[in-house]
Amino acid sequence: MNSAALKAPTGAATDSDSRRPGIPIRHMKFEFDAKSVDTHFYLNTELASGYFSALSIFLTFGEDLVIETARYHRNFLKDPELKQRVTALIGQEALHSKVHDEWNDILEVHRFPVSFYRFLARNVFDHGFLRFPQPLKLSLMAGIEHFTAVLAQFFMQHEDYFFESDDEKQRALWMWHMLEESEHKDIAYDVYQTLNGNYVLRVSGFAMALFTIWFLVALGGVGIPLLRKPRNLLSRRFWRDARRSVGLIASRRNGIYGSTLGHVFDYLRPGFHPNDHDTSEYLAYYKERLLNPETGLLAPYLVKEVVPPVRA
Ligand SMILES: [Fe+2]
Ligand SMILES: [Fe+2]
Repeated sequence: MNSAALKAPTGAATDSDSRRPGIPIRHMKFEFDAKSVDTHFYLNTELASGYFSALSIFLTFGEDLVIETARYHRNFLKDPELKQRVTALIGQEALHSKVHDEWNDILEVHRFPVSFYRFLARNVFDHGFLRFPQPLKLSLMAGIEHFTAVLAQFFMQHEDYFFESDDEKQRALWMWHMLEESEHKDIAYDVYQTLNGNYVLRVSGFAMALFTIWFLVALGGVGIPLLRKPRNLLSRRFWRDARRSVGLIASRRNGIYGSTLGHVFDYLRPGFHPNDHDTSEYLAYYKERLLNPETGLLAPYLVKEVVPPVRA
């Protein structure tokens, strides 16, 4: 199913500073139903789809770290507009974490190892990341947000990848999340640069985010089909799927991470800013595609949206 009535943008950069004041916090109600879940949602693969499920589980912990860190650092900001944007970031991430938790509960019905992964992630975060000194947490937050910005841009540019499956709610969940990750992609970075700005520390947060998202989440993704059905290891079909899935993640041509290496590692450039990768055209397209009250893909699930006020 591909119902793109709008023409996707060409991706040409038009605006080097796409700051968007007034980012809304959108409350969503998906009412996921275990019966209509497509466990091969991502381009009809088992393993690459497993990566998304692992990401869905682990992201909720990353989002909770972002929320806690952003709340702490908001107190030290003087610019009322940046403070307001941080409030929007916190609100959007809080809703992502809540809704993905609802989704993850549904995955558990399909024998995904959700409780086990939550146990692992809780230990890594409670005994590791959450105990870091605040400057390192701030840097990690900016690093995590860089990776979600890369993902968001990739999926806004490859909209069709979410349309191979008929699982409308899973598609809506990811498209909503990607839209908002792109909307707020510069906020954590701006807070980091305002309150700290140390380059070496910024790179340290990036390295930790990279290790977590590329390695730990991928490990979780590989584990999902094997823990759900251990006999998978003996099946030829599974290994064919594995080969294709690795390509869909790592290929330089169209892999989620393989084709975005330039964007990922641009973060190491001393003068880097998230808005150097302009997504304003895609955002405008996506807002219409997803949020138009009559035809938007998210319209059936949107309960309300609130823009936090700017407080002097
Ligand atoms: Fe998020
Ligand atoms: Fe985010």
